[in-house]
Amino acid sequence: MDIKEIRLEDLDVTAFIEEQVAAIREAVGQGQAVNALSGGVDSSVVTLLGHRALGDQLKTAFVDNGLMRQDEPQYIQRIFADFGVPVEIVDAQDQFFAALRGVVDPEAKRDQGITKVFYKDVFGQLVRDCGAKVLLQGTNYTDVEETVAGIKRQHNILEQLGIDTQAAYGYTVLEPIIQLRKPAVRAVGKALGLPEELYARPPFPGPALAARVIGEVTPERVALVRAATLIVEEELRDSSAFQYMAILHEDRVTGLRDGKRDFGYQIEVRCWDSTDAVTAAPTNLPFEKLRCIAERVTQEVPGVVSVTYNIAAKPPSCIEAV
Ligand code: XMP
Repeated sequence: MDIKEIRLEDLDVTAFIEEQVAAIREAVGQGQAVNALSGGVDSSVVTLLGHRALGDQLKTAFVDNGLMRQDEPQYIQRIFADFGVPVEIVDAQDQFFAALRGVVDPEAKRDQGITKVFYKDVFGQLVRDCGAKVLLQGTNYTDVEETVAGIKRQHNILEQLGIDTQAAYGYTVLEPIIQLRKPAVRAVGKALGLPEELYARPPFPGPALAARVIGEVTPERVALVRAATLIVEEELRDSSAFQYMAILHEDRVTGLRDGKRDFGYQIEVRCWDSTDAVTAAPTNLPFEKLRCIAERVTQEVPGVVSVTYNIAAKPPSCIEAV
């Protein structure tokens, strides 16, 4: 791998920001660039770097793939409006669900379901519409490392897998934070003035809730995991864990509701202690907290009869289930 990591302890945040702003300006010149904002720490940092470098030459798009958390597109649009960054919400829900129909294999979901629709269809169209030649995105060092090692195909890795984006999609990709891991990205975000609710936000994967639905990703199954996610995030917000999530299992199990057999859904809760997502350990949550989550999920998410907590570490587990 020919990308060199900049470690947090070696990072001069001010110099890094200046260098990246200059590099973006040079790469884009007088033209237009499209920026892929998902609302995570990484793409939020890239959005502010891009805005600083390009101002009106930057078109920032939030792709609503139908797989995001509750009310996420509007929440992110509001936050960036405060920075004077207009965010266009692009409704691509039908395209993503069509591509994901019938797909159960995890890597196929990431590849044909997410990567292809994002880069070829949605961003390809956006770039053509505004005549841009460059796409900005928030790939970080860990994304590259895991993909190159063959652990998991992170949705945003292209060039390092030998994909010529110009030939495949019609634009080049700029990745200003590709040398940084999460703690360093957060430090840059803080220095750029991002609110703490964004720079300290737990990571969220590019494939979004599709990474948390085992088996076929349908609007109905995403709605289930979205409702469970809302509860888990509310309950664990103060846990100071690195990341926490709900996962919908493919198998159903026998349960009992209102005195009758109910063959229902299973939700798995995961909560991780980690600094950089390379290794992670399950958080030692109080049992009372787990019981409270189970009670809320089974009562508030229709059809769920079982809630489990993952107690395996990464490795051999992974943070996301897909
Ligand atoms: P895993 O599941 O590989 O996750 O242990 C490591 C970290 O990366 C996030 N993740 C992704 N981020 N695109 C992303 O931008 C992806 O395809 C992707 N898959 C996993 C995950 O949430 C965790 O923080």
